[in-house]
Amino acid sequence: MKTISVINYKGGVGKTTLTANLAGELARRDYKVLMIDLDPQASLTFSFIQPEEWKKNLASNKTIKNWFKPSLKDKKLKFQDLIFEPDNVQRYLNGSGQLHLISSHLELINVDLELATSLGGANMEQSKQNFLKVHRRLINGIEQLDDAYDVILIDCPPNFNIVTKNAIVASDSILIPAKPDYLSTLGIDYLIRSLDKLVKDYNDYCQVDDEEEFEEIDPQIAGVLFTMVQFYGGEPISAIRPFISQTKKLDIPVFDSYLRENKTLFADAPQYGVPVVLTNNHRPDIVSEINEFVDQFEKNIL
Ligand SMILES: Nc1ncnc2c1ncn2[C@@H]1O[C@H](COP(=O)(O)OP(=O)(O)O)[C@@H](O)[C@H]1O
Ligand SMILES: [Mg+2]
Repeated sequence: MKTISVINYKGGVGKTTLTANLAGELARRDYKVLMIDLDPQASLTFSFIQPEEWKKNLASNKTIKNWFKPSLKDKKLKFQDLIFEPDNVQRYLNGSGQLHLISSHLELINVDLELATSLGGANMEQSKQNFLKVHRRLINGIEQLDDAYDVILIDCPPNFNIVTKNAIVASDSILIPAKPDYLSTLGIDYLIRSLDKLVKDYNDYCQVDDEEEFEEIDPQIAGVLFTMVQFYGGEPISAIRPFISQTKKLDIPVFDSYLRENKTLFADAPQYGVPVVLTNNHRPDIVSEINEFVDQFEKNIL
């Protein structure tokens, strides 16, 4: 079982679109895939389920909020109980592929604050224990799944708060979608530094005392994938090429493939509950680009 977080500080860079399409295509290729929506905006959730259905069947006790929210802490709750199988997408899968989802909730926004209040402690040992308790919440849930999935894809919110840090602690790899523009490329460098700091802090804290010790974490950067790339004559337009080459100078992998910009196609897909990669036979260019990326991802990351 491999856990991969899709992260970028910036909103609107294509995190959710990438998560949905990567998950959909991997499930079509017979992987057992679980998506976890950690963004309170719940875009991933509503890319697979209608809001009315979510409200009726999931909102009250079947979202990731139930797992994180300290005041809701229910010792009997199992992580498995939060999983559901979205309907519309299933008929695009065949064979042994699975596509499941743990949905998000708007109120997850308050959870970060609530979790932050349980940090700290009267002495070093207590602080370490609280740090681990707060940051290991998600990994504890994922461990309950007992390798039932091949791949877990986590769609993160556009921040570096405690919920995002939980995703990193639980991850084998970090996938960074980015738009090729000035601010996005600045953000990548900052993201990498925050990531390194979290890993260092966690690993300093994971040996609590002689009796209690957790494994150190070492999430790898899967790479940067450029999204919403504008093409002209079979190549990315010249205005964005400097940002692509600038990112290649950072000490992290950059995927050779791009996700091409196509507003109509990507904006419409969520309302039908099926990602573009599974439905758009009439746009072989877009679909084959996503597939090219999934080929690389399968080869290098899984
Ligand atoms: N390749 C693309 N081309 C055009 N529009 C896109 C593309 N990918 C995503 N979008 C659109 O951009 C907006 C933000 O994408 P989203 O995946 O929700 O980003 P994030 O999760 O990073 O906030 C959405 O309206 C989405 O439909
Ligand atoms: Mg999103």
